[in-house]
Amino acid sequence: MSETEKYENLEFKLIILGDSGVGKSCIMHNFIYKKFEKNKTQTIGVDFTAKTIKIKNQSIKLQIWDTAGQEKFRSIARNYYRGAIGIIIVYDITKVESFNHIITWLNDAKNYTRNESSVLIVGNKNDLENLRQVKFSEGQKFCDENNLLFIESSACTGNNIEQIFFNISEDVLNKIDNGIIDSNSVISSYAREMKKVQIEDKENNNEEDNKNNGCQYC
Ligand code: GTP
Repeated sequence: MSETEKYENLEFKLIILGDSGVGKSCIMHNFIYKKFEKNKTQTIGVDFTAKTIKIKNQSIKLQIWDTAGQEKFRSIARNYYRGAIGIIIVYDITKVESFNHIITWLNDAKNYTRNESSVLIVGNKNDLENLRQVKFSEGQKFCDENNLLFIESSACTGNNIEQIFFNISEDVLNKIDNGIIDSNSVISSYAREMKKVQIEDKENNNEEDNKNNGCQYC
């Protein structure tokens, strides 16, 4: 941790949800490798990656889980929702039904993740303007009404891909700063274990001290 960092070992678990084919895997791939993989195979169950970013001088390790949009993999994918603090729900701006399904994905996420999680809705494929079925203003209105973050992107051109991950992480970070999320609940599992050991050690030492204080021969 550098001197200017407020928190140690922050690690945010993010999940990417949405209908099959909206571009979830391409978004994750573009964020990590900075390029578009046109022929990405369908995700089976879940895929995972990690990347460390910096926001306001604060290092945050992102644990990113890309889930399969296909119905048949949904129950497998749900096993990986637990502990997610950021939920990214993607629709395809050229497929209005994927926009109409956001509510289903939202309910699904709410049932299996933490109450304080941040939710970002992404209208992907905004490079395909001539095929657009969902207006930017419709996406924005839906998110304003439901108190959700909103952005449009293109995994093809790279438009707003970094912003997706920065915006949702910044929202989580603000919640930590405002005491809505306990920073100890979003640190790496290794750091959490180390903290537990330190607390146990301290308690054991206190017990020893107390014992010795009570003993007239020590
Ligand atoms: P599942 O794994 O089935 O859940 O699909 P997914 O949401 O992960 O979609 P994926 O990333 O595999 O992309 C589906 C198709 O959309 C692929 O043919 C991609 O090349 C294409 N695609 C993804 N993002 C974009 C985009 O921003 N613009 C354009 N033009 N095509 C995209």
